[in-house]
Amino acid sequence: MSDGIERDGLKPGDVVVITGAGGGFGRAFSLRFASMGAKIAAWDVSEKLGEETTRLVREAGGDITFFKVDLSKREEVDAAVKGTFAKYGAPYCIINNASIYPRAPTVDMTADAFELAMRVNIMAPFLIVKAFAPKMMENKRGVIINIASGRALEGAAGGVGYASSKGAILSFTKTLAMEWAKHNIRCNSIVPGVSFTAQPLEATNPEELLERGRKSIPLGRVGFPDDMAGLAAFLVSSDAAYMTGQAIAMNGGRVMIS
Ligand SMILES: NC(=O)c1ccc[n+]([C@@H]2O[C@H](COP(=O)([O-])OP(=O)(O)OC[C@H]3O[C@@H](n4cnc5c(N)ncnc54)[C@H](O)[C@@H]3O)[C@@H](O)[C@H]2O)c1
Repeated sequence: MSDGIERDGLKPGDVVVITGAGGGFGRAFSLRFASMGAKIAAWDVSEKLGEETTRLVREAGGDITFFKVDLSKREEVDAAVKGTFAKYGAPYCIINNASIYPRAPTVDMTADAFELAMRVNIMAPFLIVKAFAPKMMENKRGVIINIASGRALEGAAGGVGYASSKGAILSFTKTLAMEWAKHNIRCNSIVPGVSFTAQPLEATNPEELLERGRKSIPLGRVGFPDDMAGLAAFLVSSDAAYMTGQAIAMNGGRVMIS
């Protein structure tokens, strides 16, 4: 760079922790980051999905280890942190991507379902970054990417726990960015719009989902996992070295943040 400023970004051999690595976005993040030379700690509650991501990444020549973890359980989060440290050491990047979306009108939503969404979607990210941060601070470099949702901005009728936890992820992101900038740890969130993965398909079918994209999204389609992976690849790169505390929407123009 002609300005002489050193800009840090993901380097081959850096470790990336990805939660929900078996899912739509998580698999695309795993494949993309592995192709950039990262070692992937793939966390998921589903052995089947996690093992499939592992197989695909290895087939493509990547370095990946699957950790089975239920993020709603603190002791399992602790075990996955320990396992990741033992296998790879401290991560350069953490992608808090896994979430659950319990669906019911607020008056019918049980306190247990609400609490579970909070545990998986916001408590686990807190526990994870808290556990890894001291080593990342020692290394004086790191990137955290939190996956939020357009529902954080618009609300979600029938998804109070999900929307509340995704709103929380945005302020969580800003807080980490403020506290950890001095350690050269950047933290941003991706705000995806409706995308073609299992999560929205819990409540609709593939054709309806694609049709919703054609009709209601300015760019004429729903999102796909590679859309999110491209943004994550930018956020972890040296091109994003001056960006922290931001929420970046990737939604075909459905909601415009400004
Ligand atoms: N797909 C969309 O339309 C959309 C829109 C906005 C935001 N998002 C967000 O994107 C992220 C990724 O979702 P996706 O669309 O890839 O969905 P997905 O359902 O394909 O993936 C979610 C993954 O999280 C895992 N998971 C669920 N509960 C877990 C737990 N307790 N412990 C560990 N892992 C658990 C699942 O096994 C799955 O592999 C989520 O945070 C979601 O809220 C998705």
